[in-house]
Amino acid sequence: MKVLVAGGAGYIGSHICVELLQANHEVIVIDDFSNSKPEVLGYIKDITGKDVKFYEKKTEQVFIENEIDAVIHCAAFKAVGESVEKPIEYYTNNLTTTLIVAKMMKKYHVNNIVFSSSATVYGDPEVVPLTEDCKLGETTNPYGASKAMMERILTDVQHACPDMSVTLLRYFNPIGAHESGLLGEDPKGIPNNLMPYIMKVAAGELPCLGVFGDDYDTPDGTGVRDYIHVVDLAKGHVLAIEKYNKPGLHICNLGTGRGYSVLELVHAFERVNGVKVKYEIKPRRAGDIATCYADPTRAKEELGWVATRGIDEMCRDTWNFAKTRMK
Ligand code: UFG
Repeated sequence: MKVLVAGGAGYIGSHICVELLQANHEVIVIDDFSNSKPEVLGYIKDITGKDVKFYEKKTEQVFIENEIDAVIHCAAFKAVGESVEKPIEYYTNNLTTTLIVAKMMKKYHVNNIVFSSSATVYGDPEVVPLTEDCKLGETTNPYGASKAMMERILTDVQHACPDMSVTLLRYFNPIGAHESGLLGEDPKGIPNNLMPYIMKVAAGELPCLGVFGDDYDTPDGTGVRDYIHVVDLAKGHVLAIEKYNKPGLHICNLGTGRGYSVLELVHAFERVNGVKVKYEIKPRRAGDIATCYADPTRAKEELGWVATRGIDEMCRDTWNFAKTRMK
């Protein structure tokens, strides 16, 4: 298939491009590099030996010049804290990008879209593991609200265009990096998320990790999340564009089904990589929940997808990426 990846130079998008190319799909990337770097496109070629066709902005031209079969939409701002400071920018960017993609798909008769959604749409879970049938919860920040709204927009578009295939993939906590060390997550400034923070403390770029709360109702008191290797996540997208390529609204969790606490992840990182990660316990972070992990049964049944990379590979590949990036 000829697949347009919106946000294809980003952390998740770049891994999706690699998996698509390796599965012999043609890839077109659109990205404005607002949170990514142009070099990434070269790294994708280094890994796969294949080129992606690239556009910066000009969305309509992409649709005019290419007979696109499917769109993977992972172009969005994603920093929770920043979204609280800049709600207008977050809603404008995330919603308009989605509306423009949907409008172009309608105009140029492209009927298959896979959307990068998030477990954030479940809010504070009533039960874990979370199945796709769990009720959607209240989001606690503009980023999360924008994801819920983007899901809603695409759901309404599918209802209005019943021939379309709309897939909402709800990611749990993607971490890790490509095993080549060329692709990974390298946020500018102070990271919001746990794994990039651990990486930067281990690398000596930040002095100490703050662990946000040790009094949650979890085995060691720290927050529990379902960390998923970004390469497993990317493979899930390839299966989704292939297997959900039939009219309807398809909703699918991508997670491992296993939760790890903050301290378990810190200790796994130290053990696997033989490094020290200094940390101290801090107060809880506003809006955080105690425990969140997926029931990944649907992904297995409908896509034949299971996460095959465990916590050790996630830690190993992150550190390998950090070392490559420091060279
Ligand atoms: N944490 C720390 N210290 C840090 C960063 C995080 O202790 O410096 C803890 C958090 O309190 C949480 C866990 O590590 O218990 C994971 O935090 P992340 O920020 O890495 O991930 P979240 O689960 O908070 O965030 C994820 C996605 C968001 C999404 C959110 C919704 O990254 O995109 O889930 O819950 F909005």
